[in-house]
Amino acid sequence: FESCFWVGAPGYGCTGLGRGWQLGFFTVLALVLVLMLRAVWPKLREKTGSRTLVWMFTGATIAIGLMYGGALFFSAKTHLTVMEYWRWWVVHLWVEGFFEVFATAALSLLFAKMGLVEARHAGRAVIASSALFLFGGIPGTLHHLYFSGTPTSALAIGATFSALEVVPLTLIGFEALRTLRLERAAPFVQRYRWPIRFFVAVSFWNAVGAGFFGFLINPPIALYFMQGLNTTPVHAHTALFGVYGLLALGLCLVVARRLTGERPWNERALALGFWSMNIGLGAMVAFSLLPIGLAQTIASVDTGLWYARSADFLQQPWLEALRWLRMPGDVVFLFGVAAFVWFLIGLVRGHSYVPIEEEAPEPAVTPAE
Ligand code: HEM
Ligand SMILES: [Fe+2]
Repeated sequence: FESCFWVGAPGYGCTGLGRGWQLGFFTVLALVLVLMLRAVWPKLREKTGSRTLVWMFTGATIAIGLMYGGALFFSAKTHLTVMEYWRWWVVHLWVEGFFEVFATAALSLLFAKMGLVEARHAGRAVIASSALFLFGGIPGTLHHLYFSGTPTSALAIGATFSALEVVPLTLIGFEALRTLRLERAAPFVQRYRWPIRFFVAVSFWNAVGAGFFGFLINPPIALYFMQGLNTTPVHAHTALFGVYGLLALGLCLVVARRLTGERPWNERALALGFWSMNIGLGAMVAFSLLPIGLAQTIASVDTGLWYARSADFLQQPWLEALRWLRMPGDVVFLFGVAAFVWFLIGLVRGHSYVPIEEEAPEPAVTPAE
């Protein structure tokens, strides 16, 4: 039992590595953190307008790096309710607290660097929205612990604060529209239009995946019937890939854009990748996960949660058919991934650039960097 805990897999969603692997993973996170801090350090000491932004960015980076530590707070024989508590420290506080702060700070920093927003104003806006995220996100953790042996107060506090989490997510929706306008604002921004489109998609999925589908399963009465049904992966996929997957790809593109200088990209594969990934994600949820989740919800309310999750219910032919309907969305999605990778390979091998003779005219204005 003891050695299993160290090298085996406890099968514990998201924190399910054996303790030995966990320690290895934590060490790697700490190393990445050191590398990040080494790069930001000089900027932290400069007294420029973007200082607040850099500090917020650094704070979120440290929190992300160290947050996994929560997974080390239980042992093999800890009571399940206590393990659950720490597990959600890692899962929930990461995605609904510090990742959100990181995303806001990183994007504001980028836009400030491009001169699209004023650094000082962006700094204040980031502090305000981070306060909102953490205000809802930290006590909101309790929405995972409503029915896991916690006192009733966990229900009241968790429900109230996680309902408030939707406020900043809605504001993000408006932010997206503004970002979309930025894309047309200055000619040099044209070069960054694809990263910016990825960031707009991030806001879209933040509102839909985290805001709407998160809220759908969030009230105590909903979770009483719906905990662990297919409605959970509806939310988890749209929020996790939609927000942080696309954010990571967008940030990759910013780096790629800077590395490839002024050379115009041939963006056909990139566009294909972007739309296929977004449409594929939407299709897999709309045609498969969501209908199954809703059918399970009805079964759970009519008969019981045990029945909604049972083989008797899930192996019925029409539910099997709905499960197979994930195929079209998944295939479109994977095609998008392949197109994106093909585009990146092309930046190295040369097929992702506009051939010299039909090169687009150079924009007159260049960014102040
Ligand atoms: C971008 C932000 C978010 C991400 C990436 C995210 C991701 C996830 C993931 C991966 C899970 C499944 C974890 C597991 O079962 O082990 C989950 C569960 C859950 N999320 Fe989120 N989430 C986000 C925001 C939100 C928000 C804003 C709310 C509430 C308004 C919310 C409410 C919930 C609830 C109640 C569950 C538990 C469902 C269950 O146990 O069946 N999430 N989330
Ligand atoms: Fe959560």
